[in-house]
Amino acid sequence: KPFQRVVLTGAAGKLGSVLREPLRALSATLVLSDISELGSPLQAGEEFVVCDLADHGGVAQLVAGADLIVHFGGASQEQAFEPILQGNIIGQFNLYDNALNSGVKRVILASSNHVTGGYRADEVIDASQPMRPDGLYAVSKGYGELLARFYHDRHGLETVSLRIGTCIARPKSARCLHAWLSYGDLVELVRCAALAPSVGCAVVYGVSNNQQSWWRGDDAERIGYKPRDSADSYREELASLRPNDVAPPWQGGNIFMRDYRKPE
Ligand code: NAI
Repeated sequence: KPFQRVVLTGAAGKLGSVLREPLRALSATLVLSDISELGSPLQAGEEFVVCDLADHGGVAQLVAGADLIVHFGGASQEQAFEPILQGNIIGQFNLYDNALNSGVKRVILASSNHVTGGYRADEVIDASQPMRPDGLYAVSKGYGELLARFYHDRHGLETVSLRIGTCIARPKSARCLHAWLSYGDLVELVRCAALAPSVGCAVVYGVSNNQQSWWRGDDAERIGYKPRDSADSYREELASLRPNDVAPPWQGGNIFMRDYRKPE
């Protein structure tokens, strides 16, 4: 197997659960971690460590000896600032600080398309354009990408930041025609990010092969990512299920319209 010890944070979450089996295939030992219990029993080759990302010492123990970290844990949507502060702002610092101390070579970071959610939905943007976050959750993801840049330029630690779109089993809204990422393509994206020989500090939008994608000019080709699925196949289904559904005017969707000071 290509890796000895891979750490997966957010292992109890929606996407962590999707990534578990494919990552097990790449690593002699897969260390699963979350603040919550796992939903299903441990398999051969897996270990489980309960860890709050805000706990610097706990994260140090978690990442010791890892050759790759797949970081999917933390606050995963807009919400009150405190969990964003603990899980993402403090959590991502703890992750990078300890990854550096442990000699980890590469991090695969779950960022979000919401770092550019403030662009208009009628624009197609290049990954090198400035971030325009659509809420404080998105700001925390942008901070993660900046940490990745800093630890790479200063210390040579590699990261592939994945600006994940809407990763669900099937497209369910007009916005998915732009932003959908299938589970199969997520797995392929993470596999490419793990196995590409040299990635430096890369940014890739986590999106399937949707004709109406909003995003261009990222490092997908450099890491060898070629999505196989497309939301286009669901266009008719969406039109008949939700005939009046139109994508909101911002790429981030309705999040940009909400009052971020009073998250639901
Ligand atoms: P999720 O909410 O299902 O999973 C996140 C996991 O992180 C949960 O199991 C939770 O217990 C854990 N967690 C939260 N705070 C923690 C803390 N302080 N310490 C340790 N663990 C903590 O989210 P999902 O959908 O699986 O997303 C995974 C990652 O991908 C997140 O970083 C999210 O921001 C990102 N993402 C997901 C998208 C999607 O379509 N599902 C879209 C864009 C980004």
